[in-house]
Amino acid sequence: MTENNEHLALWGGRFTSGPSPELARLSKSTQFDWRLADDDIAGSRAHARALGRAGLLTADELQRMEDALDTLQRHVDDGSFAPIEDDEDEATALERGLIDIAGDELGGKLRAGRSRNDQIACLIRMWLRRHSRAIAGLLLDLVNALIEQSEKAGRTVMPGRTHMQHAQPVLLAHQLMAHAWPLIRDVQRLIDWDKRINASPYGSGALAGNTLGLDPEAVARELGFSRVTDNSIDGTAARDLVAEFAFVAAMTGVDISRLSEEIIIWNTQEFAFVKLDDGYSTGSSIMPQKKNPDVAELLRGKTGRVYGDLFSLLTVMKGIPLAYNKDMQEDKEPFFDARDTLLKSLPVFTAMLQNMTFREDVMEKGAAGGFTNATDCADYLTKKGVPFRDAHRVVGELVNYCIKADTALMDLSLEELKSFHPAFEQDVFDAMSLKTCVEGRSIPGGPAPSAVQASIDEARKQLAQK
Ligand code: ARG
Repeated sequence: MTENNEHLALWGGRFTSGPSPELARLSKSTQFDWRLADDDIAGSRAHARALGRAGLLTADELQRMEDALDTLQRHVDDGSFAPIEDDEDEATALERGLIDIAGDELGGKLRAGRSRNDQIACLIRMWLRRHSRAIAGLLLDLVNALIEQSEKAGRTVMPGRTHMQHAQPVLLAHQLMAHAWPLIRDVQRLIDWDKRINASPYGSGALAGNTLGLDPEAVARELGFSRVTDNSIDGTAARDLVAEFAFVAAMTGVDISRLSEEIIIWNTQEFAFVKLDDGYSTGSSIMPQKKNPDVAELLRGKTGRVYGDLFSLLTVMKGIPLAYNKDMQEDKEPFFDARDTLLKSLPVFTAMLQNMTFREDVMEKGAAGGFTNATDCADYLTKKGVPFRDAHRVVGELVNYCIKADTALMDLSLEELKSFHPAFEQDVFDAMSLKTCVEGRSIPGGPAPSAVQASIDEARKQLAQK
């Protein structure tokens, strides 16, 4: 038996000495990969059964192996077993733990037919699949918060913008749901990505299998995969699926960052469209009047951090020949970080949004100014038979006239309007009213929170099936 503090390595037969302390320090990964311990033990259990079915463990040995793995899991859970300084990685630590419990003879049998290469490739898939489901759930909660706010907003109108300039009046609900759809697509990306990552590399060994007659399909099923990987070299050497997860995390960051940016702008004194709850804003150490939108700012900032995770992964993977190379150990910290960042950020962001108050009166006043009805005025002329080119020019001249007179299109008299074009009649005022500008337009896809809700329900159903 190895004692807890005795050095155990998974390799070394041809070596006359152990690794130099500097190399050991460099290659050590337990400080971050210990998070994969539960998945590793689950993988070991499935592998032990495969060895049993192949006649490489007797029924009694398999039973003792499973008992030992259960004990090991308990010790991992209660913290009485953890990696020691000498353990190179989580797999090394767990093999040491297993041998301590089951003895050298039995414990030494588990490694047959597997390599840390197929093992790690499988574990990261298991871990990512599980955590991506949690992230997707949190994203859907955020979308739910957007739906609640848009339902609260009712028919509140705000100035829609392009180039940050007043463009056309829109419903606040329309704008909020425009932030919901990208998040729904992020969830759909995760669901779609799961189809690709839902394949177990177990049985690939170092790169090209083994001669032991194990059944990789059965192992895959036991670990919750619907199939085995299509090519053992690819199965052990590919990390594109890890990068794809990081891409979805980064894209989610972009989508949240854009909403954050709006909230930050809406929260300025100049806009004053929203009021943040005290619990989700912070003060200044010197300026007593300050109330800062820190949650939105932090999330905007954390997006940069998640880009870093994606870029690290892409850069680590470029130029690595097939199959496994140790560079790939560098995949873990980035994807752990991407997951941790989202998991920590999303619930706070959702809560901030739920507790935010929209100042509907200010928004509506904003929507009425800035000539947001100019397009509708031009449309009015078009419907009277004026070529749009001319209508556009006429309304442009009207806008100039209003700017000089410091007035709005709505406040001009019919005579003034007629002096610019004879087609104007009394009904133009109705056509230019905020109500008509919002309600009278045909819009491909308006707020439709019920359509967003249906997508949430569908996504939740698919996530439950994964
Ligand atoms: N700790 C390693 C990693 O995360 C496990 C695989 C090691 N394989 C090897 N042949 N050295 O990538």
